Amino acid sequence: MDNIHFSLPLLTTLLLLLLRSSTTLAQTPAPGPSGPTNITKILEKAGQFTTLIRLFQITQVGDQINTQLNNSNQGLTLFAPTDNAFSSLQAGTLNSLSDQQKVSLVQFHILPTFLSMSQFQTVSNPLRTQAGDSAAGEYPLNVTTASNQVNISTGVDDATVANTIYTDGQLAVYQVDKVLLPLKIFGTPSPAAAPAPAAPKATKKKSGADDSPVAGGDSPADSSGGVGRGMHEGVGIIAVMLAITFNL
Ligand SMILES: *[C@@H]1O[C@H](CO)[C@@H](O)[C@H](O)[C@H]1NC(C)=O
Ligand SMILES: *[C@@H]1O[C@H](CO)[C@@H](O)[C@H](O)[C@H]1NC(C)=O
Ligand SMILES: *[C@@H]1O[C@H](CO)[C@@H](O)[C@H](O)[C@H]1NC(C)=O
Ligand SMILES: *[C@@H]1O[C@H](CO)[C@@H](O)[C@H](O)[C@H]1NC(C)=O
Repeated sequence: MDNIHFSLPLLTTLLLLLLRSSTTLAQTPAPGPSGPTNITKILEKAGQFTTLIRLFQITQVGDQINTQLNNSNQGLTLFAPTDNAFSSLQAGTLNSLSDQQKVSLVQFHILPTFLSMSQFQTVSNPLRTQAGDSAAGEYPLNVTTASNQVNISTGVDDATVANTIYTDGQLAVYQVDKVLLPLKIFGTPSPAAAPAPAAPKATKKKSGADDSPVAGGDSPADSSGGVGRGMHEGVGIIAVMLAITFNL
C-alpha cells in the first residue's frame, strides 16, 4: 500500500524531532551568575521596608527598576520611606488611591539618575522624578542641603534623608522618614474630592466550557525525568502511528 511507503519518512522525521526535543528538555539552562541588581533583595536586607516592597510588587515598579538598572547606565536614585513613614500617613491613605495613583506615588520616589549625597548640593530644583512632569502642580520635588543634611520638599510635605541604605555608583537608595506626597495627588483639593474609584473594567466574557488542566497525566513514567519521559511518549506516539498506518 502507498500509505506505508509514504509514512516511513514521516515517522523517521517524527522520531528525530522527538529525540531532539527530549535532549533539549534534559538540558535545563543554568541560571545566570549572581544576577543583576535586585531592588527587593536590597530592601529586604535593609529591613523595615515591607510596605515599600509590597507597593513595588503591586505596582510592578520593582521589576521596572531592575530592568532599567540592567539596561541603562544612567543609574537610579530611590528615596525609600520606612514602614514607620507609611504607618504615620493618615489612615486609609494608600487604600484611597487608584492603581495608577499608586504607580505614580511609587515612581515619585525615584529619580532617573544616580545621585550621590554630595551631588545633591548641586542639583537644580525642581528635580524630575519617574512620576513625570516636575512643573508646579504636577510632580515637583525639591532638595535642599546644609552640611551633611539633605531635605526634600514636595509642596505637600517635607522629608529628611536619614541614611544611605545602598550605593554602588549606579543605584543609590536613601532612607527617608516620610512618604513623599506629590502635589498632583495630595495637593490642595480636599481629600473628600479624591477621584472616584476606577470604573470596573468590562466584565470578562466567560467562555463557558472550562477546559480541565492538561488531561492524561496518568503515565507512571511521569517522575522519571525529561529524557525518559520524552522517549516514552515518543515510542507511544510512534506505536499509535504505526497501528493507524497498518490498519489502513
Ligand atoms: C529579587 O529578590 C526577591 C527577594 O529576594 C525574589 O523574590 C525575586 O525573585 C528576585 N527577583 C529576581 C528577578 O531575581
Ligand atoms: C540584562 O541585560 C542583558 C544585556 O543587555 C540582557 O541580555 C538581559 O536579558 C537583561 N536581563 C534582564 C533581567 O533584563
Ligand atoms: C531640614 O529639615 C529639618 C527638619 O525639618 C530642619 O531642622 C533643617 O533646618 C532642614 N535643613 C535644610 C538644609 O533645609
Ligand atoms: C521648588 O523650587 C522651585 C525653584 O527654586 C521653586 O520655584 C518652588 O517654589 C519650590 N517648591 C517647593 C515646594 O519648595
